[in-house]
Amino acid sequence: MQLQIQKDKIIIIDFGSQVTKLIARRIRELGVFSEIITIKEFLKIKNFKNIKGLIFSGGPSTVTKKKFPTIPKEILLKEIPILGICYGLQLIAKLNGGSIKSAKRKREFGRVILKKKKKSLLIKNFFIKKKNTQSVWMSHQDAVVKLPKGFSIVSYTKDSKLAIIENKKKKIYGIQFHPEVTHTNNGKQIFKNFLFSICKIKKNWKVESEKNRIIKDIRNLVKKDKVICALSGGVDSSVVALLINKAIKKKLFCIMVDTGLMRKNEFKFSYKIFKYKYKLNVKLINASSTYYKKLRNIKDPEKKRKIIGNLFIKIFEKEAKKIKNIKYLAQGTLYPDIIESRSSSGSKTSKIKSHHNVGGLPKKMNFKLIEPLKELFKDEVRILGKSLGLLKSLQNKHPFPGPGLGIRIIGKITADKIKILQEADHIFINELKKHNLYDKIWQAYAALLPFKTVGVMGDSRTYEYTCLLRAVVSEDGMTADYFNFPKDFLNKISNKIINGVPGINRVVYDITSKPPSTIELE
Ligand code: XMP
Repeated sequence: MQLQIQKDKIIIIDFGSQVTKLIARRIRELGVFSEIITIKEFLKIKNFKNIKGLIFSGGPSTVTKKKFPTIPKEILLKEIPILGICYGLQLIAKLNGGSIKSAKRKREFGRVILKKKKKSLLIKNFFIKKKNTQSVWMSHQDAVVKLPKGFSIVSYTKDSKLAIIENKKKKIYGIQFHPEVTHTNNGKQIFKNFLFSICKIKKNWKVESEKNRIIKDIRNLVKKDKVICALSGGVDSSVVALLINKAIKKKLFCIMVDTGLMRKNEFKFSYKIFKYKYKLNVKLINASSTYYKKLRNIKDPEKKRKIIGNLFIKIFEKEAKKIKNIKYLAQGTLYPDIIESRSSSGSKTSKIKSHHNVGGLPKKMNFKLIEPLKELFKDEVRILGKSLGLLKSLQNKHPFPGPGLGIRIIGKITADKIKILQEADHIFINELKKHNLYDKIWQAYAALLPFKTVGVMGDSRTYEYTCLLRAVVSEDGMTADYFNFPKDFLNKISNKIINGVPGINRVVYDITSKPPSTIELE
């Protein structure tokens, strides 16, 4: 099932940049509906009535080669405002007769100072007042060196004479830097100007207002049939369950599989909330002893993931078979999953790391899929959750990997180690909440390292495990920075864990960003 959003919108044509989805996020944050599509999908569009503006994203290709990703030139004549970003600018220049060179010596990567050359609707209130400069994020080797016909220069940098260009009459704009990334100061203003001053689109996107339409769509689709859903208590599956429950009540069957690899008390807590507060049709399966047995002596992280994922599918299938006549399977697939799992050329090749699909259920089960969050970003799902009355603690929960603590206990997993880690993690997360730090952090957890070291407590030597703490800030998990805790907080946490968790005599804090590290350790 796909949401059918028939609204005035901004279409972003994806030329393959890693940050294309941020463009859509920025636009939706400004209250305007936007969609990312491939060139192939764009070429199929017959009716342009609802398209109030086009954005050409950045991308890894170069227009200096004979073959390059492009769109028919006639699009430029449709009188729809266009904004090209990075590769998008170069494409606009190429299609309009400008020239582009691969500037090996003058390439720009990272922060660059942009200077204003002349007034333009696109840069209203963008530059620092009086200085007329702004710090922007560049990432390019090719550069436009000859202005296309009908265009003029709006801004420049030391190494890019044509950093912003415009054809005011045709409402076509091109910018070399990336306003969608947070490293560009005041980048949102560029989008604001493009949307409201140039495209003249009205604010029309508020995810809460979509709630009733989504519920109605589900009801119309499912009719008298039954739906099954794997519920983890994470924000995505929780929102899916609440939405479908609102639509079809007891015809929704939720299954919670407790792998024993969850955070302390969390799974049982969520189960009670769903059963008694939200009155869902939910069944809890305690499978921890089966998981521990299967994981005994397994060290390799990929093997762990496979075992955990396959076992989940087996248990879920067994439970599903007990309920007769199920037609649909509900999943919490999000918009970034959809964008990332198709390449910009439109092929179905999956770019998502295989291990991130652990919760994926088998095709042979022959259910039809319902994916009500397919067009939403994570922050929008949280807002939707809030409007459905989802508890704040569930709404704002940090992401948690499918294989759970299984990939946070490095090396072999034992029931003892799980208990030790659950205690340490519980202390860490509780302290974050107590100090109002939890909501400032994108993801935080404790992990258990696979070796013991010597310590001294009282008058005796100890030989125990090391606990590693990780806390990162991030926008979408693709890149991340470690969180800068005050020293006092780190001292307090270390003391609390050492004093409160037998089995741990050393606490370390991970101070690497992603890249080069990943968020999880395995
Ligand atoms: P990494 O470790 O790749 O993680 O920087 C990025 C985000 O993905 C989550 N993650 C997983 N989620 N199954 C999942 O469902 C997995 O196997 C898995 N590995 C990592 C991670 O928690 C972070 O949010």
